[in-house]
Order: sequence, then C-alpha cells, then structure tokens
Amino acid sequence: MRCSPEVKTALVTGGARGIGAAITATLADAGWRVVAADIDARAIDKAERDWGDAPITGAVLDVTDRIAVSGLMDAHGPFDVVVNNAAIPADMLPFAELTPEHFAQALKINVQGSFIVAQEAARRMAAGAIVNIASRGYLGGIGGAHYVASKAAVVGMTRAMAVELRWRGISVNAVAPGMVETRMIEGFSSAMREKMTEMEPEGGPLDPAVIAGVVAYLASPAGRSMTGQVLLVDGGKTIGTGLY
Ligand SMILES: NC(=O)c1ccc[n+]([C@@H]2O[C@H](COP(=O)([O-])OP(=O)(O)OC[C@H]3O[C@@H](n4cnc5c(N)ncnc54)[C@H](O)[C@@H]3O)[C@@H](O)[C@H]2O)c1
Repeated sequence: MRCSPEVKTALVTGGARGIGAAITATLADAGWRVVAADIDARAIDKAERDWGDAPITGAVLDVTDRIAVSGLMDAHGPFDVVVNNAAIPADMLPFAELTPEHFAQALKINVQGSFIVAQEAARRMAAGAIVNIASRGYLGGIGGAHYVASKAAVVGMTRAMAVELRWRGISVNAVAPGMVETRMIEGFSSAMREKMTEMEPEGGPLDPAVIAGVVAYLASPAGRSMTGQVLLVDGGKTIGTGLY
C-alpha cells in the first residue's frame, strides 16, 4: 500500500525488537509511515500485536540478502529515511579467543548488511536521511574486537557516504549508543554487567527510547542539515574522567 505523498516513509532494519522497535514506534508517533524489517519472523509477529493500528508494516528481511533488500525497496520504497539498525550482539570474547568466523559474521551482518541496505535505498531516494546505528564500542574496549571493528567500519562508511551523498540532499549520520537495555546486553555475564553498570554516568543502561529520539531528530528537517557526524549517546561516559 502506498500512502499519500505528504506522508513520509521510513525503513528501520532490525525493527522488531530492542532499539529498532523503539525507533519504529517513535517515527510512527511522529507521523511517519514505517516499514520495520527484521530477520526474525516471530519477533515481527509479536511486535505487530503491540503496533496495533499504528502506520507500521512488518517485513521479514535478511539485510545481507541483496535480492531480498532490492525486492523490499521496490515493494515499499522509495524511502525518505533509512535506519540501519540490524546487527548481531557483541559477545565480549578476549582477542586471543576470537576466530575468523567471529570476524566474518560481524563484518557480514553489521557492515555488509548496512552497506547493501544503504546502497539499494540511496539508488532510489530523491533526498532524505540515512542513519547508521554504530556503537560507543567503536572507540575500543576490552573484549569483542570483531564487534568493535565492525562498528568502526560503520563509522568510516558513514563519513564516506556523507561526503558523496550530500550533493543529492541525503544526509548520512551515525548514532553510537552506550549501554542500552535490550536483548543485546542480556548475554553479558552478571559480573560484566555489574562492572559496566558501575561505570555508566546514568547509573545503568539507557532506555531504547533515548536512542530513538536522537534518530527521530536526525530524520527531521533540522537534523538533516548535519551530515557525516557520529553522535555518541552514552550519558557522557566517553568525554573523559573530569580529572586533569
Ligand atoms: N543494546 C546496546 O547496549 C547497544 C549498544 C550500542 C549499539 N547497539 C546497536 O544498536 C542496534 C540494535 O541493537 P539492540 O540492542 O536493539 O539488539 P537486539 O538484538 O535487541 O535487536 C537487533 C535486531 O536485529 C535483527 N537482526 C539481526 N540480524 C539481522 C539480519 N541479518 N537482518 C535483519 N535483521 C537482523 C534481530 O532479529 C533483532 O530484532 C545494533 O546495531 C547494535 O549493535 C546496541
């Protein structure tokens, strides 16, 4: 179903749960027609019950499958806003224990998936905004070097895309969240979670709605006037200790 021309259309990948579901709901509340695409059909079914009558369409999609991505763009696009949010969790293995498979998987889904979706979308977009969800982890930390590398690649790709696409009126920015309360951090051991929570200036993980609000701003006309930026949304954890 195509909506009237004044209703803008957004695509959110990994939109069935966690931060993606919050972005989907926030954009729909702000008047966007949203396609929430996720590899997990059961998660979409569950989310659809929560969405009720909101202008949200769920779609099963693997972001690494270019034919499927292209088909979704043709069926539901062109999109005015694309949010590359789908990713696999960061298992925080020490560097010495990582395998080539860990690296290949993180790069395939977190980087190639975002690349495929952004490229297929940009080919069809007249103007608009692309928002890539990176992670504060791109700065580096203990464990999960494959995840860190994938998110640093997302940041690099964001900057390169922004330079090229600005001439077409497409802004490209990255949002780099700190610790957010979703399934992604459920896999952390309680010791790891306690340690990480202790260091969060907000006293614990952020609500996914906080990240969704930043994405909604980047999707708005004011937000689109900046491009190539990485917005760290982490309660200030990464600005330093405050000590000289
Ligand atoms: N939760 C955090 O603390 C945190 C911190 C920094 C960054 N992030 C980033 O935020 C984004 C969302 O993470 P989340 O915490 O909501 O995780 P989540 O696991 O709750 O949600 C991720 C969603 O992506 C979907 N997905 C995975 N692979 C896919 C694929 N190939 N194609 C389509 N969909 C796929 C999953 O089914 C899931 O619904 C990710 O990019 C993540 O790296 C999360």
